[in-house]
Amino acid sequence: MPFVEIKPGIYWIGVNDHTTDLFEGLWPIDEEGVSYNSYLVKDQKIAIVDLAKSLKVDEFLSQVEELVDFSHIDYIVLNHLEPDHSGVLNVLGKLSPQATILCSSLAREMVSSFYGIRERVKVVEEGEEISLGEKSLKFFLTPMVHWPETMMTYEVDSRILFSCDAFGGYGALRGAIFDDECSDLDFYKKESLRYYVNIVAKFSPMVLKAIDKLSSLSIDSVAPSHGLIWRENPSLVIDWYRQWAEYAESGGEKAITLVYGSMYGHTEAMMDAVARGVAESGVRVEVFDVRRTNPSYILPSLWVNKGIIVGAPTYEAGLFPLVVPLLDLATRKGVKNKKALFFGSYGWSGGGRREWEKMVSPLNWEIVDSLEFKGRAYPEVLAQGRALGRSFGKVISEL
Ligand SMILES: Cc1cc2nc3c(=O)[nH]c(=O)nc-3n(C[C@H](O)[C@H](O)[C@H](O)COP(=O)(O)O)c2cc1C
Ligand SMILES: [Fe+2]
Ligand SMILES: [Fe+2]
Repeated sequence: MPFVEIKPGIYWIGVNDHTTDLFEGLWPIDEEGVSYNSYLVKDQKIAIVDLAKSLKVDEFLSQVEELVDFSHIDYIVLNHLEPDHSGVLNVLGKLSPQATILCSSLAREMVSSFYGIRERVKVVEEGEEISLGEKSLKFFLTPMVHWPETMMTYEVDSRILFSCDAFGGYGALRGAIFDDECSDLDFYKKESLRYYVNIVAKFSPMVLKAIDKLSSLSIDSVAPSHGLIWRENPSLVIDWYRQWAEYAESGGEKAITLVYGSMYGHTEAMMDAVARGVAESGVRVEVFDVRRTNPSYILPSLWVNKGIIVGAPTYEAGLFPLVVPLLDLATRKGVKNKKALFFGSYGWSGGGRREWEKMVSPLNWEIVDSLEFKGRAYPEVLAQGRALGRSFGKVISEL
């Protein structure tokens, strides 16, 4: 996509990635894509804020070249060293050897370890301002949003916050780069939430600290390094992030996520009964089949909803295996403070429920109830499941 002047002298020079299937080698983006937003600030001095993944080096360098000569770049600001925002430094560093890299003190070591660059690296401090002429860049350290070295850059004259990973999301840009041009904000909200939970959620307390720190800034636009630029309603995306970060402690909204797997349909039959019971309680329920849905898409629902129901048959004295990586990811991502229910079929001595209890014990989930049944879910067992769904729904609605 051609560069876009977002304010006089400030340009979006990002690239869309429609090639990478798995973001971080983990999270599917084959259908959604992702953008690596980079920005060029042109004044008496010229700065580029954040770069792109090395895969996109040709396109990225063309974006820069359309606007400036490589030899005229004064500063390369690296808010974050993760290679999705720094990869092209390998080449840009050689094309612009005169440029000074601006980064946090923790990033300096990473610039050396990832890119072998030790010269012309200037460490910036919290609140430090560097003048480019009329415009100036001010830096705010925001550790662990997403790595320890992460910072944000604020352009004082135009009041643009280059927030890097914070306030970003999956989803390549589809022509519209600003919130007010976008006809499908729901898509970006969904993909921002998925990105938040997949990438940032573990560090939610640090997200809240960063948002607190920014509260005294007058922000005209939020320009993250993934996804839309928020100029009409910059507070919207900040509010989303604040709300999602708060769920880490509160456990989320009065709604339920039901995740299940099944080999021969017995647990699946029970799933229908339990879901029916929840629906009768009036509580919203989102159902996921763990066999068919990648955890990347289930985790956001687990994060947002206070109630979690897991249905899994016993498999070799433990849980149906596909449930295990999901619960493991939930543990790693800090999906905490939930109320939970378990159900599943077994053939002879069971074991699914035992492993379930073991897996969720580090998560601070309150196990409200469980229903393990032998073999088929006969009508009276289904009725039990339906009643359980109803009573669990009541527990959630009365929180
Ligand atoms: C490969 C495999 C391993 C199983 N291992 C156990 C087991 O260790 N203990 C047990 O009680 N049942 C075991 N079962 C029986 C299932 O739990 C039982 O058939 C159950 O009804 C399956 O539920 P589903 O129809 O929802 O898949 C196993 C079944 C299969 C196919
Ligand atoms: Fe990152
Ligand atoms: Fe990123």
